[in-house]
Amino acid sequence: MNSHITTPIQWREDRLLLLDQRLLPGKENYLVCTTYQDVADAISVLAVRGAPAIGIAAAYGMVLAVRQVPPGEDRLTFLAQAAKDLEATRPTAVNLAWACRRMLRVANEAVKQGEELLERLWKEAYCMAQEDLAMNRAMGEHGQELVADGANILTHCNAGALATSGWGTALGVIRAAHAKGRNLHVYASETRPLLQGARLTTWELMQDGIAVTLVTDGMVGHLMQQRKVDVVIVGADRIAANGDVANKIGTYGLAVLARAHNIPFYVAAPTSTVDMELASGEEIVIEQRQADEVRQVGALVVAPAEVKVYNPAFDVTPAEYITALITDRGLITAPSRSKMTEVFAT
Ligand code: MRU
Repeated sequence: MNSHITTPIQWREDRLLLLDQRLLPGKENYLVCTTYQDVADAISVLAVRGAPAIGIAAAYGMVLAVRQVPPGEDRLTFLAQAAKDLEATRPTAVNLAWACRRMLRVANEAVKQGEELLERLWKEAYCMAQEDLAMNRAMGEHGQELVADGANILTHCNAGALATSGWGTALGVIRAAHAKGRNLHVYASETRPLLQGARLTTWELMQDGIAVTLVTDGMVGHLMQQRKVDVVIVGADRIAANGDVANKIGTYGLAVLARAHNIPFYVAAPTSTVDMELASGEEIVIEQRQADEVRQVGALVVAPAEVKVYNPAFDVTPAEYITALITDRGLITAPSRSKMTEVFAT
């Protein structure tokens, strides 16, 4: 079933291979990372992207860091700096900080127990990737029942195999419904400025033989008004303790439109995306990116070179707009602080 599903993160002979998503769909080229700084650079430029994927890549980055400890330097001090550098690359998706901190905790434990550090950290990173896959599958199972035969689904950005260790969150739910034999059609919004929807989501769905139509971001209100959308399913980069969701810029607008048209709005995300330390979405740090991403479409300059630009990479959708969260622990309908606490307190 998933033989053609792309694995964006691969460990081969002591090196980390990352599918360079900037080049898709034109070229399938893997970046070879031999240092943690290579991984940090790949995350910064979005060669690897998507909340779960950057967490897993960073975990393997920590494995690479073990081999970089200069002679005579304390290993844990070096690893703490590596974790800090990796974490600093992108602030919004909590999976990144979550993965780095988990790797540091394991490193501390391994040193205390006198275990072989490299081996122990590699096992942890591998385990994280496997866990992610299992969480994606569980979300797919929980979420697929929300997608009826014949449904027209709108998704935004890319929350697919490319954004995870290989199945997807929002696209995982769609894949699971497709695997049950349901006839589905997906609208992928292009997702300016970096076009993850146009370049990546359409590519993934076409490989799976799932019908997909590409639309520009500005078309989604019209689509809903024309009753062409039955359900919206997106991923998440961070979910606060009250159920507010940070996801790709444009998601909030979709949620408000969905509410106005009485269309269910679902967010699929694994436990690793939940941040119970933040009381609400107002506390989520929104990554600001470079102006040229907006002044250009790829290499093509489409605006005056000096024009002022605002380029937040994410926005926050308040919980009240979310019909349900689709998580690996089950569905959370009308998410609230108390329901989040019930499911994610441990
Ligand atoms: O800037 P990106 O491409 O990393 O943003 C990705 C998203 O916003 C995804 O929707 C989110 O990470 C969920 S991916 C399973």
